[in-house]
Amino acid sequence: MADALLQVEDLHTVFGAGREAVQAVRGVSFGVERGETLGIVGESGSGKSVTALSVLRLLMPPGRVASGRVRLDGSDLLPLSERQMRAVRGARIAMVFQDPMTALNPTLTVGEQIAETIQAHQKVTKAEAWAQALDWLKRVRVTLPERRLRQYPHELSGGMRQRVMLAIAFSCRPEVLLADEPTTALDVTVQAQILDLMDELKAELGTAIVLITHDLGVVAQRCKDVAVMYAGQIVEYAPAGDLFAAPKHPYTQALLASLPDWRRPRSNEPLPALPGQPPSLVHIPPGCPFAPRCPRAFALCPVRVPADTHLEEDRTVRCLLYEPDVEKPAGLISDEDGHTEDGGIVP
Ligand SMILES: Nc1ncnc2c1ncn2[C@@H]1O[C@H](COP(=O)(O)OP(=O)(O)O)[C@@H](O)[C@H]1O
Ligand code: SF4
Ligand SMILES: [Mg+2]
Repeated sequence: MADALLQVEDLHTVFGAGREAVQAVRGVSFGVERGETLGIVGESGSGKSVTALSVLRLLMPPGRVASGRVRLDGSDLLPLSERQMRAVRGARIAMVFQDPMTALNPTLTVGEQIAETIQAHQKVTKAEAWAQALDWLKRVRVTLPERRLRQYPHELSGGMRQRVMLAIAFSCRPEVLLADEPTTALDVTVQAQILDLMDELKAELGTAIVLITHDLGVVAQRCKDVAVMYAGQIVEYAPAGDLFAAPKHPYTQALLASLPDWRRPRSNEPLPALPGQPPSLVHIPPGCPFAPRCPRAFALCPVRVPADTHLEEDRTVRCLLYEPDVEKPAGLISDEDGHTEDGGIVP
């Protein structure tokens, strides 16, 4: 993981300062390689979007990255000036959002916006930029591409707008694409088409994709690795197949256990809502942040903060049950990783 194309290390992002600061991201680390997709899942408010925005330094004040490293091909982006970051955004790391209308300019035509992005990052004539824009609209398979060039975003359907966003995002052949719930607002069939398109472009251009989603079916089908976030931290990190075969963290286990078929989650099933609330990110309680909701919590949990435990290569979990020096309560779990003989999850 140390040599990944995009490597985020111990990222901390806060909103505000002092005792009332919101600690939205608290020590997040992950890596993603060329041509691979990392899925990030977790309930609303767990810090997924703030993590992606931190990578690109697109946070609005009072949000700021307090510490950490964001390495792209080995070089840390966090010390770069705003001017240097502008050369990274779009060109080397692109981002697409749930609602393309927030990212598209309503006063410019689709052609103007794609051509503008191309000209901002490549030394090409206006005519050449427009030719490339048309080519990209064809590649993302918008219907009537010549006509779309002259249309405004509000004249397009949600699915068409997201295709335009992908055209803009991929037009500079970025090394990394951050996709923040890119299909959440779309119809089911359109969702699959957009995700297919992303997979196709990824394979063709070798892009590394960070896919934020609440759709576990999408993670199972399209992601190599998955990071499960809870209260601003990654609580479990695993190859997607391993996660669904044997989830380790009680939060992941609870999420999967509430799906009808957790070994093969279907797409478009909403992320299950667990009873209880995540902790405040301002006055963070001591101990494990999941303790008040955890069915496997024991005496130490509200007291001691769990650290990342490496289980096997590419697999980590942040839970005291897996820490070697922690004495576990007898009778609470049937085996070390919380699984019964028949593969079921211990509730
Ligand atoms: N502009 C803001 N001001 C203060 N806190 C914020 C702001 N944006 C996000 N947060 C905090 O960061 C946390 C993570 O938000 P976010 O990354 O958007 O969650 P999600 O996982 O749903 O994408 C939220 O719970 C919220 O407390
Ligand atoms: S540390 Fe304790 S409370 Fe936290 S997830 Fe593990 S068992 Fe549950
Ligand atoms: Mg979000």
